[in-house]
Amino acid sequence: MKIAMLRGPRDLRIEEQTLQPGSPGPDDLHIRTRITALKIGTDRGNYEGAERVPGAPDYPRWVGDSNLGVVEAVGRNVTRFRPGDRVVTREPHQSESIVSQYASIVRVPEGVADEDAVYAHLYALSAHCYHKAQFRPGENVAVVGLGVLGLGAAAVGPLFGARVVALANSPVRLEMAERMGAHAGYLSGDPDLAEKLAAFTDGQGIDLVILTANPWPAYRTALEIVRPNGRVAIVGLLGRGEAALDFNPLSMDLFYIKGISLVAVSGPSGYLYPDGTADPLRMQNRYAADREAAHILSLMENGRLEPKRLVTHRFHYSRIVEAYEMAYHREKSMLGVIFDWRDA
Ligand SMILES: NC(=O)c1ccc[n+]([C@@H]2O[C@H](COP(=O)([O-])OP(=O)(O)OC[C@H]3O[C@@H](n4cnc5c(N)ncnc54)[C@H](OP(=O)(O)O)[C@@H]3O)[C@@H](O)[C@H]2O)c1
Repeated sequence: MKIAMLRGPRDLRIEEQTLQPGSPGPDDLHIRTRITALKIGTDRGNYEGAERVPGAPDYPRWVGDSNLGVVEAVGRNVTRFRPGDRVVTREPHQSESIVSQYASIVRVPEGVADEDAVYAHLYALSAHCYHKAQFRPGENVAVVGLGVLGLGAAAVGPLFGARVVALANSPVRLEMAERMGAHAGYLSGDPDLAEKLAAFTDGQGIDLVILTANPWPAYRTALEIVRPNGRVAIVGLLGRGEAALDFNPLSMDLFYIKGISLVAVSGPSGYLYPDGTADPLRMQNRYAADREAAHILSLMENGRLEPKRLVTHRFHYSRIVEAYEMAYHREKSMLGVIFDWRDA
């Protein structure tokens, strides 16, 4: 099988590897990839050689974690999936996989397009920003940073009952946010931002900020615009690959005096829901990652959520380096990038 391997900063290669012999084992699925999606934020950092994310592998390492394929065969203990099922996994950019049934796997409902479904896990993370921050319907939400995760948050928010304003550092991304359902969009550097947000929220302020950008100026914007006692859900990896910060990130005026909460968007959804860690299939938690992904797929099923609207580039896997180089150069017109793993 073919796999994209990052041998070092900006050294990405398609390599040939053999699948485990004798596979699939009793608890395994053999999945043949159709398409994978580029997860720009984290993978660009890996590609550039930015600070390693704790727990992530060092070079040489796989890349990507949004993989849509078809089940070819299942082991004798696997009952949840059958050959022929379309599934989304967190497998890397590779042409085939042997995946344990206990790994993250979600079946794609009939009628959902491949190019929507492949975003299930990324959009589940966008949804997790709301769940982890205890979002309540009717709240005013600002999404800062409009990559795939931010645009996902802008898209799912209105479906959850949020009034969403999107904040970007590029007008191209504001147009995309509007296309995905945001109620308003502004540049984060807009000198009249405070007045515009006050008008947008009818003076109530932003209850929840979802911060998806790594740079410190974006963090500062988030703390400035959230209302007193509001929450900032942080899914971005703050400071990763960025210049050192030039201000106190917990200064009294921004944190203590405002009485805000900073919420890390990782781990289970919070005290309202059991974490379900004892369950090998990790499905007991009401908002377990795969349950969130299944919910996201159900929204796609009835046409309310359509990530493929933002697919800007499609590449055969053999051109994967081109895509990573575009991400490296931060091409704003590039957002949804799909790699096709089928060889004609
Ligand atoms: N917590 C988790 O489990 C988890 C999982 C996956 C990903 N992540 C992280 O989540 C973040 C978002 O992922 P992504 O793929 O959507 O990343 P992305 O494509 O880098 O999106 C972030 C966007 O924010 C923009 N931005 C930077 N500074 C800004 C500012 N001051 N105001 C407004 N926008 C600004 C960036 O523009 P520029 O390109 O010009 O900087 C970029 O377009 C990344 O940090 C990623 O590593 C976290």
